[in-house]
Amino acid sequence: MNLSANCTPADTELRLASHIGGLPQGDIDQLSQTFRSNHVAVIDQLLPKDMVEALTSEANILLDRESKRRKLIIKESGNTPRAYSSVGRDAICQHDGVIPAIFKSDAVLSFLRKLAGENIERVPYRPEEYIINSQCEPGDTHGWHWDDYAYALIFVIEAPDPLLGGRVEYLSNVEWQKGSTEPYLRRVLQDNVVRSLYVNSGQCYFMKANTTLHRVAPLTGSTKRTVVVLTFASPEDMVSDSITHNSMEDIYPDDTNTKSDDATVEAANVG
Ligand SMILES: [Fe+2]
Repeated sequence: MNLSANCTPADTELRLASHIGGLPQGDIDQLSQTFRSNHVAVIDQLLPKDMVEALTSEANILLDRESKRRKLIIKESGNTPRAYSSVGRDAICQHDGVIPAIFKSDAVLSFLRKLAGENIERVPYRPEEYIINSQCEPGDTHGWHWDDYAYALIFVIEAPDPLLGGRVEYLSNVEWQKGSTEPYLRRVLQDNVVRSLYVNSGQCYFMKANTTLHRVAPLTGSTKRTVVVLTFASPEDMVSDSITHNSMEDIYPDDTNTKSDDATVEAANVG
């Protein structure tokens, strides 16, 4: 069954509602407990198997057709590197497949609200709705950062060779200190034990991403890590006037209407 070709968003929603509605309550309670204590939880079967296949196929097709190489240093997160290929929100939206349908799904949103314990909403800033990122060259990384909005749901399309880096590393309950971020980051990483997580292909993880310092560690060899990232906002985010999008504008100038003449962002000093 080719979900992206044959299914309307309404079909997708019905299937998601039925699948998520059938998840054992005990598993949901356990996930919720894990999420509220760790601020990160790996979810095994949020989607039916054929929807995982459709998502995988869609992400790979879009990466082949639409991806752009991003390679730069982000000042706002403490001069940390980004090096990966990605497909921005607008190209994914135009394809109109399963990714936007999952983002718009009330069943998914309601499930995430149960995990978070608050009435989260779809992110109110379009460029951050959904993005495909793929670390695919040795050294590729998504360096230390915090997200602009509170919650991220990340589907792992292709997990890297576990011997070759690309693990999620994180520290929960660390607020983003904007301004003097680099010395602050150095201090936080010196003084705390960083947790490390390997997430398999077909799984997803939910993260409290604005107060969890996190990164994807650099790939150390020839392997690949591809994810689809969906962003959600807390009730506090929805009324905040202090959220900035500087990192997004630096990384995705075409999707944030800050495009320069050269769509491929390159910086000479990426390590
Ligand atoms: Fe992030």
